[in-house]
Amino acid sequence: MDDRDRNQTLLCGRSLAILIAAGLFAFVAIALAQSPSQPAAKKENPLGASPQVIAAGKDLFNRSCTGCHGVNGGAGERGPALAGDRSYVHETDADIFAAIQNGIAGTAMPPFNLPANDAWKIVAYIRSLRSTAEDVFVPGDAAHGEQIFWNQARCGSCHMINGRGGLLGPDLSNLGGERTLREIRAALTEPKREIPRGYRPAEVVTKSGQHFSGMIKNEDNFSLELLDTHEQLQLFTRDDLREVQYKSSSLMPADYNKTLPAADLQDLLAFLSRQARDKSEEEKEGEQ
Ligand code: HEC
Ligand code: HEC
Repeated sequence: MDDRDRNQTLLCGRSLAILIAAGLFAFVAIALAQSPSQPAAKKENPLGASPQVIAAGKDLFNRSCTGCHGVNGGAGERGPALAGDRSYVHETDADIFAAIQNGIAGTAMPPFNLPANDAWKIVAYIRSLRSTAEDVFVPGDAAHGEQIFWNQARCGSCHMINGRGGLLGPDLSNLGGERTLREIRAALTEPKREIPRGYRPAEVVTKSGQHFSGMIKNEDNFSLELLDTHEQLQLFTRDDLREVQYKSSSLMPADYNKTLPAADLQDLLAFLSRQARDKSEEEKEGEQ
């Protein structure tokens, strides 16, 4: 083998190595490009959550799903509510997508096998019903809403926000992070069918003839804890009490659609929906 031949084979060997390397590279590149695209498409809705996508999803939902589920995410005759005041088995985009496409085994929820785009539109719609108020765009003048909260409507006489305000109603500092816009609006405009635990107003009379009115925070067969209207916690044993009179309606006025001008109510909703704890702060607390 002379020098030229050797160079030739060397060259051949080298280009073979380059070819193999290039092939490997291409293979890895394709594999890399493919592997995240599949699970990623499953994890998050590839169509996003624009108002158009949500509206299209609502249409599809009303056409295909309300035979069992209720309209607007409520409970139906044969299917549970898909949005509202509860936790869900199928929470993430991927889980809801899978429930629609494959059904839920052993239940009346059938598989739909829709074109993927249609299923994702419905997923966007269902998620939009569940988003808490801080995640949705609520029009209105929040600064003016804050004025209404503390001044005109005196919400602050019963409610606390960030350490300021009253104790009779729930603390609203994280309201927008916990409730949907629908729930907040309903709290202000629709009397609840049941008074939430810890907020039932009552009047009690002791055996010595003293009267107290307030809200029952806790009670059992032996004792009763009342937060009185002066924000003092009163503890009674049943033996102390002559009479307990339960009130049938909450202290929360639920007719602000009648007592506030519509524009003010909207401003108030804009303010309330922005009351949310900073999530990065929460994460820091979680790390400690
Ligand atoms: C034939 C009745 C029926 C139809 C039609 C139906 N569902 Fe359901 N669906 C159910 C039932 C029943 C359940 C509860 C299953 C269970 O017990 O886990 C359910 C559960 C679900 C869940 C899970 C709820 C949770 O708590 O996580 C989702 C999401 C869902 N359905 C979406 C849809 C969508 C979207 C459609 C229309 C494309 C649809 N369903 C049509 C009966 C139905
Ligand atoms: C007289 C006291 C009082 C006043 C005034 C009052 N609230 Fe309430 N509010 C309550 C009580 C008590 C509850 C809990 C019981 C209930 O929901 O009926 C409540 C519940 C709520 C809830 C539901 C909270 C949740 O986590 O579900 C919201 C929201 C709310 N109030 C907002 C307001 C706003 C805004 C105003 C002023 C426009 C206001 N409240 C005025 C006493 C009051």
